[in-house]
Amino acid sequence: MGRLRVTGAGALRGTVRVPGDKSISHRALILASLADGRSTITGLSTGEDVTHTRRALTRFGVTFEEQIPGQWQVTGGLRHEPDDVLDCGNAGTGIRLLAGVCAGVDGISVLTGDQFLRRRPMDRVAVPLREMGAGVDGREAGRFAPLVIRGGGLRGIAHDSPVASAQVKSSLLLAGLSAAGPTTVVEPHPTRRHTEEMLEAFGGKVAVDGASVTVHPGTLTATDVTVPGDPSQAAFWVVAGVLATDGEIEVPGLYLGYGRADFVGVLQRMGAEVDVDEATGTVRARASRLRSVEIVASDIPGAVDEIPVLAVAAAAAEGTTVISGAAELRVKESDRIASTVKMLRAFGVEAEERPDGMVVHGRADFTAGRVDSHGDHRIAMAAAVAAVTRAQGDTVIDGWESVATSYPGFARDLESVAGAGVCAPADD
Ligand code: S3P
Repeated sequence: MGRLRVTGAGALRGTVRVPGDKSISHRALILASLADGRSTITGLSTGEDVTHTRRALTRFGVTFEEQIPGQWQVTGGLRHEPDDVLDCGNAGTGIRLLAGVCAGVDGISVLTGDQFLRRRPMDRVAVPLREMGAGVDGREAGRFAPLVIRGGGLRGIAHDSPVASAQVKSSLLLAGLSAAGPTTVVEPHPTRRHTEEMLEAFGGKVAVDGASVTVHPGTLTATDVTVPGDPSQAAFWVVAGVLATDGEIEVPGLYLGYGRADFVGVLQRMGAEVDVDEATGTVRARASRLRSVEIVASDIPGAVDEIPVLAVAAAAAEGTTVISGAAELRVKESDRIASTVKMLRAFGVEAEERPDGMVVHGRADFTAGRVDSHGDHRIAMAAAVAAVTRAQGDTVIDGWESVATSYPGFARDLESVAGAGVCAPADD
């Protein structure tokens, strides 16, 4: 298992260019594959999740050519069933969005993933895709991957989603492209709008009305996509900049659109000196004194992936932070309520799980410790932020290899803001 040793540094300074947005990258690959003609995607995420989605799409006969690093030419026209099993690796977005694509093509598709993905709930897409007319089966009556989908002959539905999930919404919108009649998805809280925004760019017919989205069937036309930087990856550097004993970190070129950058507002509520330049998509963070806050259900969809690193910020704040309405975290790459609380405790922080969130008691500094990522990239990176900013001495993070799913260059970027030698692979 890969391990990273991180040494406490305190002061951090510099500019970090994060990888292309993971959510946008998945969608750019899928929509370019469905579209007729050639699309160019620039700035694609270099993470393994997105690579799995790209490779899966080649099984449908779509071709991808990397022209220069991060720039891909896609020749689309996806119409027929894949010629092999689709391996989605660790990617929940990959498997759920591809399930919607598979439901729309005539024939049989099989989707699977790694040991963590095979434990994540798939009934949230299996149930509505069946209602649209697809055959969807899988382990435990379709609750878990591997999934077997018999696609084609779909009808549009109106789906009232019990969970606020952009993955569920996007899966149904993609299936809806080839259904008879419109497909509407209503969410309990509106979530990120990448699929809607990008469907429009590819000539799709989509209408958003608050928490309700409707897609009309139709074909897509190739277009060029430039993928902006990933705000969820930027959140690690923003929290690092805030918790540092001194310095400033700036992250330029980010997507700051609907439902993705709400972590900035949460940090500002905590008293963090964080500012945003919308024109350049830059977020800047300076060393700050934080106070505790309440993070509630309506905060979650816009900051769902940032909770582990926000919990690290809470652990360094004065007072007790309560996070609620976040039960969805239990079905992410790990049970993120349990794994975040365990990670904080490894740093000597007092924290307790709640069924739908956690309670975090702030303290001035952390004890260096040994942390398990639980196979979850965001737990590993949040731990690295805690270790470099507030822990005295060396912290060892087990399961560091999980970071490759979204941010293969994280350790290099950590050295660029904290100094060479601040982290290194560890042997034991
Ligand atoms: C994603 C949506 C979120 C998020 C995930 C990416 C997406 O999941 O946690 O990392 O790209 O649509 P849910 O929509 O299931 O909450």
